[in-house]
Amino acid sequence: MTKNLTRIAAAALLAAGFAGAQAATLTISCGSNAADVEFCGKFAEEWGKKNGHTVKMYSPPASTTDNLALLRQQFAAKSADIDVIMIDVVWPGVIKDHLVDLKKYSKGAEGKHFPAIVANNTVDGKLLGMPWFTDAGLLFYRKDLLDKHGLKAPETWDQLSAAAKKVMDAERAAGNADFQGFVFQAKAYEGLTCDAVEWVASFGGGTIVDKAGNITINNPNAAKALDTAAAWIGTIAPSGVLNYGEEDARGVFQNGKALFMRNWPYAWALSQAADSPIKGKVGVAPLPAGSGGKAATLGGWQLAVSKYSKNVDAAADLVMFMAGADIQKKRAIGGSYNPTIPDLYKDKEVLAANPFMGQLLDVFTGAVARPATVTGLKYPEVSRAFWDAAHDVLEKKSNGTDAVKRLEGKLKQVKRDKW
Ligand code: GLC
Repeated sequence: MTKNLTRIAAAALLAAGFAGAQAATLTISCGSNAADVEFCGKFAEEWGKKNGHTVKMYSPPASTTDNLALLRQQFAAKSADIDVIMIDVVWPGVIKDHLVDLKKYSKGAEGKHFPAIVANNTVDGKLLGMPWFTDAGLLFYRKDLLDKHGLKAPETWDQLSAAAKKVMDAERAAGNADFQGFVFQAKAYEGLTCDAVEWVASFGGGTIVDKAGNITINNPNAAKALDTAAAWIGTIAPSGVLNYGEEDARGVFQNGKALFMRNWPYAWALSQAADSPIKGKVGVAPLPAGSGGKAATLGGWQLAVSKYSKNVDAAADLVMFMAGADIQKKRAIGGSYNPTIPDLYKDKEVLAANPFMGQLLDVFTGAVARPATVTGLKYPEVSRAFWDAAHDVLEKKSNGTDAVKRLEGKLKQVKRDKW
């Protein structure tokens, strides 16, 4: 009798397309802002229903730095709490020992994604994450206010500064007392590393450590870049930015309280939401140039499977589903998450929802990578030393020249003989 029932249940499952797999409960970590939860959660649930599994959402800390710290604690404890993990583009070399090689599951699907991201996610021949969305720093601006003052999106940092001052003074004089010229994330964490890499690269100051592993940060262009940014604090940018993450900057901009914002593509969809006070008033441009040209930092996230998961097969299947073209397209349209599949940049619906994805394609393909691959396991220490130095300059505790000199010394200690 019991045997028969089991057989009937198994037949029913098979008929429903569950292919005899055991029902699993999986936990996925995929971002913490409202859009992340919506545009990850609903698709993960869809996959669960289709495959007879239950998927739970885990909301990681908003700061990528805090997120990594918590994950490393979980890995140290070999915790099976999270099965599918969203990992930052700068993490593969740092947490490589705790992730499953997805090659066996991807069956070549990674070949449809940007090769540079696949290469970034491949460590010691293992594919540690499927590309999920890519990021590059962008300049968001208030089209309506620039028009009102006869201004265009700035091409250089000097133009940005001048426009910010002009519009800020006029808005304040008109009674908009707390209006700001420029907001960006500048608290002491990975997000500041991203901004400061952009400043330094746009002044021709390199990438902290070059591809060959040489420490290059101690140079006058890097110092000039940091000094230039420091001059914005308390003039066109509130000193509060020293404690801002991305969502803090977005809060100010989206409330109509800033002319310019540096942020990632996700901010676009939110700015165009039905209840957004700035809907229809926003433009997107490449970040302005310093003496060395324009630069955007490469960001982005991958989906990985924890080695300590009790359901590796199901987790890998979920990763493949989420990273596929269908979900990437829906996430691009609904949440302006930049796809990692080049073909989607030709998709009419993706481009209609996100004109900047087509117009600024070269910003995404030419973005500057942080020195994570070359510094491997030591990247978090390198980045921390760099954001601390940048923060000191922004706070006027140090000037650019002294800060990059000290930073070079610190990085030498971190490197010792090799990365
Ligand atoms: C974005 C980027 C990520 C970066 C982080 C910094 O999430 O995609 O690569 O590390 O911002 O805050």
